[in-house]
Amino acid sequence: MCGIVGYVGNRQAQDIIVEGLRKLEYRGYDSAGVATLLDGRTHVRRAVGKLSNLANLLKETPLVGTTGVGHTRWATHGRPSEENAHPHTADGVTVVHNGIIENHLALRDELRKAGRVFKSETDTEIFAHLVALESARGLSLADAVRAAAARVHGAFALVVMREDSPGVLVGVKVASPLVVGIGDDEAFLASDVPAILAHTRRVIFLEEGDMAVITPQKVTLTTLRGEPVDRPVRVIDWTPVMAEKGGHKHFMHKEIFEQPRAVADTLRGRVGREEGQVFLDGVKVEELKSIKRVVVLACGTSWHAGLVGKALIEQFAHVPVDVELASEFRYREPIVEPGTLALAISQSGETADTLAALKEARNLGARVMAICNVLGSAIAREAEKDLGVLYTHAGPEIGVASTKAFVTQIVALHLMALGMGRARGHLDAQAVRTELQALSRLPKLMESVLDDDAQIAAIARTMLGTRDTLFLGRGMCFPIALEGALKLKEISYIHAEGYAAGEMKHGPIALIEHDLPVICLVTQGNGYDKMLGNIQEVRARGGRVIAIATDGDKQIGSLAQDVIYIPQCPRFLEPALAALPCQLLAYHVADGRGTDVDQPRNLAKSVTVE
Ligand code: F6R
Repeated sequence: MCGIVGYVGNRQAQDIIVEGLRKLEYRGYDSAGVATLLDGRTHVRRAVGKLSNLANLLKETPLVGTTGVGHTRWATHGRPSEENAHPHTADGVTVVHNGIIENHLALRDELRKAGRVFKSETDTEIFAHLVALESARGLSLADAVRAAAARVHGAFALVVMREDSPGVLVGVKVASPLVVGIGDDEAFLASDVPAILAHTRRVIFLEEGDMAVITPQKVTLTTLRGEPVDRPVRVIDWTPVMAEKGGHKHFMHKEIFEQPRAVADTLRGRVGREEGQVFLDGVKVEELKSIKRVVVLACGTSWHAGLVGKALIEQFAHVPVDVELASEFRYREPIVEPGTLALAISQSGETADTLAALKEARNLGARVMAICNVLGSAIAREAEKDLGVLYTHAGPEIGVASTKAFVTQIVALHLMALGMGRARGHLDAQAVRTELQALSRLPKLMESVLDDDAQIAAIARTMLGTRDTLFLGRGMCFPIALEGALKLKEISYIHAEGYAAGEMKHGPIALIEHDLPVICLVTQGNGYDKMLGNIQEVRARGGRVIAIATDGDKQIGSLAQDVIYIPQCPRFLEPALAALPCQLLAYHVADGRGTDVDQPRNLAKSVTVE
C-alpha cells in the first residue's frame, strides 16, 4: 500500500516526483525516497517519516537528473527505516514497488547463496537483484524486468530504471494499481492519477499483467510475456485544483463540503424524471431482471453503505440482499446459488479483500457488478467483464477517512435499486419519478446541513476530553450509527461504538454512565418513537444525548442536551443527510484534539493487502 511516481522527460525529475508523491501520501507515509539518473550513475535520497522529511533532505542535497523514480511507503515487509525505504538498488538497477512479493523468503535465500548481499529487509530489494542478474546476461531493461517478473508472485506494481538506460522506465502491474501519464516529450508512471494530474490528463490504466516501457516520446505496452497490447488513452477531467485542499484546513473537511457537488455528479445523466426512468450507464440493467439475490461485498465504510443499500434494494427492487464483509466471505464456504449477483462496493476499487471476494463469488457462479469511485480500478475492471460498474463520480478522495465516497455510494445504491425495481416491474414510472424528484433535491438539502458546521464544531468542543462514545440509530440510520462511530474512532482515536438502538438493552446499556456522549439518530422516518424511548433510557442513566433530528421536531429539544437538525425529507434520504453531522462531528473532535486528520495513525487510503 505504497505510492509510486516515475518520470522521464526533459525537466528535472526531483520536484515533479516529490510533488507527485505528495498527492499519494494517502497511500502510506512511513518513509519516502527518490532516485535519479545522472551521467550513468544512480543517486538516491531517502528519509524516514513523512514526505516533508524527504523534501527537507532534498533541499539540502538536491538530486539532478531527468529520469527518476520516487516512492512513499507503508511498511509490509521490514520496519519503517531508511534502509527499508524505497528506492532499492542493486548493480545499477533501481526499483520502487507497491505490493507484496509472496515468495520473497525463498528468493532471498537463493540469491544469498548466489553471493548477493542485501541492504534491507524488504521483499522489494529482491526484485532489484533479480533484474540485475538478468541484466548481467546482456538483456535489455525491458527483457530483464520481464524475466525477473516471471520469478516472483504476489501483488506488485513496480517501476524500474537502470544506469545504462537513461530516459527509459519500465513499469509492471500485477494486482496493484499503476497508471501511465502521457505528456509532451515526457511520460509518467504512478500509482494514481492525482500524482500526475498537474502535468497531464492523458492516462492509460494498466491492466493485470501489463508491462509499460516509457520514454519521453513513446509508451510501449506489452503483456509480461512480451505480446503487444493496446489500452485506451483516457482523458481525465479532474482538475489539479480538485485534488487540492481548496482553502479548507484538511482534505477531509473539504471533501465533506464537496458532497452536494459529488452527489449531483453521481446523479448527473442518470435521472430521466419526466419518464420516470433511471439510466444506469455502464450497467447491463436488462440482466438484473433475472437476479434472485444480491450479495454485497465490501469493507469498512463501504460495507456500511452496503447496509443502507440492502434496505433500498429490498424496498425498491424486492430482491433479498445479504451484506457480507469481504474479508470474511471467502474464508468460509459461501453458498452462491444460480441468480446471485455479487455487488462489490469500493471507493478505491483496489481493496484486496473486496477484489478477492468478488473473484471468489464469480468462480462460484455469481454474476458480478461493482459500485466504484476510481475509474479503471481493479474491482471496476473485474466487474466490467460481466454486468458492469456504476461509478459514483465523487472525484478523488484524499482524506483517509471516507466521506464523499460513502454518501455517493448510498446515492448510487439508491439509483441501482430504482433501476432494478423498474426493470423487474416492481416499480411503476410514477413511483420512480417520485423517488428521483426527491433524490434530485438531495444536494440542496445537504447544503443546509453543512451550514450547521459552526454549531457542530461547538458541540465537538464539548467532547474533546471524552474517552468513550455511543452512536445509536434504527432502521436505515443504524448503518449511519456504525459509520459515525467508525469516523470518530479512526480520526480522533476516541473509543466509539455504533449500535442498533433496540439492542442497547441487550448489553451496551451497561456502558452508560454520567456524561457519556451518546449520539442518537432520531430522524422522523427511521424508528422515531422507539428512539425517543431509547433516549429516555440514556438520560435516566446520566448519558449526555447529542441528537440528530429532523427540522420541526418539537419534542427532541427538551430531551437532548444538544440537537443537530437535518431538513425534512423522505425517509430513504435520511441516511445520506444524517451522515453529514456525524462526519463533521468526528472531524471537529479530531481537529480539536490535534490528530493528523487526513492521515490517521496506522491507516492507509487503499488497503491493497489482505
Ligand atoms: C474508513 C474507510 C475504510 C474504507 C475501506 C474500504 O473511513 O475509508 O473503512 O471504507 O478500507 O475501502 P474501499 O471503499 O476503497 O474498498
